[in-house]
Amino acid sequence: MVGCYVHVPFCARRCGYCDFNTAVLGTGLTPDGWLAGLRAEIELVAPRERLGTVFFGGGTPTLLGGPILADAMDMLRTEFGLASASEVTIEANPETVTEPLLDSLLAAGFTRLSLGMQSADPAVLAVLDRAHTPGQATWCVGAARRAGFTNISLDLIYGAPGETLASWQHTLETALAAAPEHISCYALIVEPGTPLARRIDRGELPTPDDDLAADQYLLADDLLTEADLDWYELSNWATPGHECRHNLGYWHSADWHGFGPGAHSHIGSQRWWNHRSPRRWATALQRGESPVAGRELLDDTMIHEERLLLELRLATGLALAELSPAERERLPTFISNALLVTNTHHAVLTRQGRLLADKVVRDLLG
Ligand SMILES: C[S@@+](CC[C@H](N)C(=O)[O-])C[C@H]1O[C@@H](n2cnc3c(N)ncnc32)[C@H](O)[C@@H]1O
Ligand code: SF4
Repeated sequence: MVGCYVHVPFCARRCGYCDFNTAVLGTGLTPDGWLAGLRAEIELVAPRERLGTVFFGGGTPTLLGGPILADAMDMLRTEFGLASASEVTIEANPETVTEPLLDSLLAAGFTRLSLGMQSADPAVLAVLDRAHTPGQATWCVGAARRAGFTNISLDLIYGAPGETLASWQHTLETALAAAPEHISCYALIVEPGTPLARRIDRGELPTPDDDLAADQYLLADDLLTEADLDWYELSNWATPGHECRHNLGYWHSADWHGFGPGAHSHIGSQRWWNHRSPRRWATALQRGESPVAGRELLDDTMIHEERLLLELRLATGLALAELSPAERERLPTFISNALLVTNTHHAVLTRQGRLLADKVVRDLLG
């Protein structure tokens, strides 16, 4: 079964830490132009098989409003079809969510809501330039529950300049009190060229501390596990059965179509990606041309390296059968350094190993 990612490149305003492909709504492509582009892009795809998972990401997909999102879902349903019990996620910013919007999302076929809560500390939200209060995020979880959502995820960020371990603990406890099925905890990446990076460079904000970030990760793992959310990928915890099936598809190198500006697709051993600029993407499609900016054929080495990189991040681990003889010979060193454990068929990161996952992958590849 194939997955589908739909990129929505609009935000009401930009957060100072984010370098995702998104622009302030009203400054370029319109939502109607985006919908027309999506329709044209879907029509270019053949053959079309039923979708097992769909993920509307952004940007801020919920800014589009119920009718446009329902039209987009109708297109996918008509042109591809949805598998029974498909998982259909939409990312939402708390300040864009209303009770009528939640009802229209459910009616349109969305089954999973991923809310960008980030922090329960107003000072951290201010450093991140977020447009919502902590209370708006927790209100959204309750409203989504009342509307009928049974699969809700919260995105949290740790490591913002000035954040303390106590503040992060309060964020985790506030998120857990809302009882979501899934929580993602991302370490803040200071992306070069962002307003946040400039403020740090000018000395207006402290540089995030890696040791504190490691303590924050371990605290998250303790509190989330105690609350019966198990880690299943480095940055993701879920109650049993609520792991994000769409993202598991990426991590297991499954096939997916990507639609929208900058979206990537992966089918078999081919990968391709669209023009990043929303205007360029839309103009190509208006002219009946392909919006693809580049493509590559994955050779055996690339497939092997990606599989190591992605599957080692999972709690299910990396199949030992995937390893080359040279990589297998390196395993005992990781095991004696308590970074990896092995069971009958897989190598799995320990908690210490999870803190050093990138290095473990690099060293394992040799
Ligand atoms: C790109 S956003 C899209 C969803 C939505 N607009 C939001 O802000 O929640 C997806 C997730 O990526 C996170 N993100 C964006 N930039 C990041 C960065 N520099 N470091 C860590 N996480 C980041 C956001 O905080 C959010 O939780
Ligand atoms: S973090 Fe989310 S809301 Fe903020 S600019 Fe990025 S995509 Fe938009």
